[in-house]
Amino acid sequence: TAGNLPESSCKPLSGLKDAIGGDNVKVIVADDYEIMSREAAKIVAAEIRKKPDSVFALPTGGTPLGLYAGLIRMHKEEGLDFSRVSTFNLDEYIGLPDGHESSYSFYMYDRFFNHVNVSRDKIHIPRGLAKDPEEEAATYEWAIKRAGGIDFAVLGIGRNGHIGFNEPKTEFGSLTRPIYLAKRTIEANARFFDGDPDSVPRQAISMGIRTIMNARKVILLASGPEKSRAINQTIHGPVTEMVPSSVLQLHPDCTFFLGRDAA
Ligand code: F6R
Repeated sequence: TAGNLPESSCKPLSGLKDAIGGDNVKVIVADDYEIMSREAAKIVAAEIRKKPDSVFALPTGGTPLGLYAGLIRMHKEEGLDFSRVSTFNLDEYIGLPDGHESSYSFYMYDRFFNHVNVSRDKIHIPRGLAKDPEEEAATYEWAIKRAGGIDFAVLGIGRNGHIGFNEPKTEFGSLTRPIYLAKRTIEANARFFDGDPDSVPRQAISMGIRTIMNARKVILLASGPEKSRAINQTIHGPVTEMVPSSVLQLHPDCTFFLGRDAA
C-alpha cells in the first residue's frame, strides 16, 4: 500500500511491475532505471502533445539523465516538438563561475537543451551569479507566475527527502529563495565536483515547496537503494517538514516513478 491510499484503487500498468494508485498519488515501480526513465519520458511527451506550450519545472542530478536521453531520442526519431515549451529549472548553485561544468546551467544545455528544439527565450534557470540572490529568486517566482504557473514539475529526491534544494525543516509555504545546502547534500553532490566536498557551493537558489506544490502535475523519479529510506518516508510516513518530499502526499496529481531498488 502507499501511505493512506486505499488498496482497492491499485491498478497494474502494462509493462510495469506494480502501480499503486489513489486518486491523487500514484506509485509506479519499474524493474530498472531504463524502464523507469522510458516510462517517465512517455508521460512528459504525452503532456507536450496534449499541451504544446506546457510550462515545465526540471531537475538536474544523476536521476533524470535517462529521462532527458529518452526525450532527445523522441525529438530526433518521432519529431517531439519542444518549440513552444517553457522550462524553469528547480535550482542553481550560487557563486559558480559562468560556464562552470558543475553548474546546473551547463548541465541542462549539455545534457538536454542543446539536443532538442526548446526555444532559448523560454528556458529559465536561476542566475547563480546574480548580485542580489534574494531579488533574483523573487524575480524567478514572478516569472513562473507570468508564464501561467507550472503545468508539470519533474522532481528528483535527495537522500534526506529534499525536493529541489528544499532541505529538511523547509517551511511548506516557502517560495523561490536562496538556501543553504545540508551537509548530506554537499557530500552527495561532491561526485559532481571531482569528489571534493569543499568545492561544492554552500548555497543555491531553489524553488520553494509551495512553488512546487502549485504545479498542476508532479512526477518524482528515484532509483538506487540509497533513495529507498527517503522514498519510504515520503510515501508511508507522516507529512512533515522534516521530510520535505512527504508534502507530495497532499498534491492533487503526483506520480512516483521508482526503480525497484529505490522502492
Ligand atoms: C536538482 C534537484 C535535487 C536532485 C536530488 C537528487 O536539480 O532538484 O533535488 O533531484 O538531489 O539528485 P540525484 O538525482 O543526483 O540523486
